[in-house]
Amino acid sequence: MYSEKILTLSAGVGVVGLGYVGLPLVILVGQKELPVVGIDQDEKRIESIRQGKSYVSDIADYEILALLENGIITVSTDFGKLSSCAVIVVCVPTPLTAGKKPDYSCLINAACSVAAVLSPGQLVIVESTVAPGTTEGIILPILQSGGMKAGSDFFLSYSPERIDPGSREYCLSNIPKLVSGVTPACLNRAQLFYNLLGMTVVPVGTPETAEMAKLLENTYRDVNIALVNEMAQVCRAAGIDIWDVIEAASTKPFGFQAFYPGPGVGGHCVPVDSSYYAFFARENNEPAAFAEHARRVNSAMPQYAAALAREALAAAGKTAAGSRVLVLGAAYKKDVNDARESPVIKLIECLRSEGAEVGYHDPLVEKISTATGEMNSVSLDEITLSGYDCSVLAVAHSTFNLPWLAAHSSMLVDLTGSLPKQAGRVISL
Ligand SMILES: NC(=O)c1ccc[n+]([C@@H]2O[C@H](COP(=O)([O-])OP(=O)(O)OC[C@H]3O[C@@H](n4cnc5c(N)ncnc54)[C@H](O)[C@@H]3O)[C@@H](O)[C@H]2O)c1
Repeated sequence: MYSEKILTLSAGVGVVGLGYVGLPLVILVGQKELPVVGIDQDEKRIESIRQGKSYVSDIADYEILALLENGIITVSTDFGKLSSCAVIVVCVPTPLTAGKKPDYSCLINAACSVAAVLSPGQLVIVESTVAPGTTEGIILPILQSGGMKAGSDFFLSYSPERIDPGSREYCLSNIPKLVSGVTPACLNRAQLFYNLLGMTVVPVGTPETAEMAKLLENTYRDVNIALVNEMAQVCRAAGIDIWDVIEAASTKPFGFQAFYPGPGVGGHCVPVDSSYYAFFARENNEPAAFAEHARRVNSAMPQYAAALAREALAAAGKTAAGSRVLVLGAAYKKDVNDARESPVIKLIECLRSEGAEVGYHDPLVEKISTATGEMNSVSLDEITLSGYDCSVLAVAHSTFNLPWLAAHSSMLVDLTGSLPKQAGRVISL
């Protein structure tokens, strides 16, 4: 039986969706010496893994190569490979529709493909972020459509992923894992699985609770970042340094957690999940005023950042129209190669719409798509930098040489609180 296979570490594990969530999971499972099959519909990604090339900044090529060499991982576009696995973990994207509603098309497609190969005794775990009720209301009926029943014939769990891309402190194995099941037997098996991966498991009573807990975690971030973004604007207007304010408040040992202002909020999680919560609230005829206000404040930050660039140019006697502006960092946060929903793209679009000629440099993001077309990262050296009227430090990647940037930029807008202010040449958020 599959549960015994899980116990003896001999079970095969299938991971569906090999992105920022799924690929690190494949590596962790492989490193525990469990055979693992990674499934993705994107042939380019499958080929990249087969070549031992990572496209996720937290995973190094050598980690993939080591597991390929000892044959512990295989990857494919063929869902049929999942039929022999004891556990199938679904990590596909759950973005927003144009109308800011949850877009479950990838999740539904993946669930239908899993249902087509579902075998008795298998444990299916959904890790994608979803609104409360989705596991039981949408995924369960799809998996049961072939006549098998969850809790006896197969098992279904919801366990939201909490990874922190780019973090040196937190990785999959040291972040406590919320785990729920549609029945006690489902919960029991999912707990067993994550325990075998060495994770600290936090069992949660129902899938709805686990689904809502994930939305709370990320809406909490969106709301608190919006609060400091709003306060940063108030502080600038009043001549107070927001970074000093946050540092001072952070000395309080209880009841305060520091959040930092910036060009806005991006990535596939925080802005999306906050909108999922607002959608869920509307479905339940209740307001989600905090979440909706936070979205408005954070979404308007690129325009505010563009206004700071205008201020810097004005200090040098220039206007945005006709000036050259270099944006440093395009990822949605430091040390990741992910530019999805990045507010920096909006900042670039904003500056361009004002007539500025804009370039960007990001050592981790080679190319971005903007409303006016694709852009490639420019190389960064003294000559390049001197060709720009103003630089905007939007993301402070650890590899950036900040003193060098400060010394060689004619005007510099710092949205990250990383640079000392220097005789009027650095304008800080
Ligand atoms: N990125 C994060 O930091 C993060 C953190 C926690 C939770 N999440 C959640 O995890 C989920 C996955 O996010 P991600 O960032 O890893 O996404 P991603 O876009 O990086 O990767 C998803 C992968 O799924 C594949 N895919 C899509 N539909 C498929 C299908 N039907 N069958 C097979 N493969 C399919 C895509 O080709 C892609 O490679 C989302 O729900 C997200 O909200 C993401």
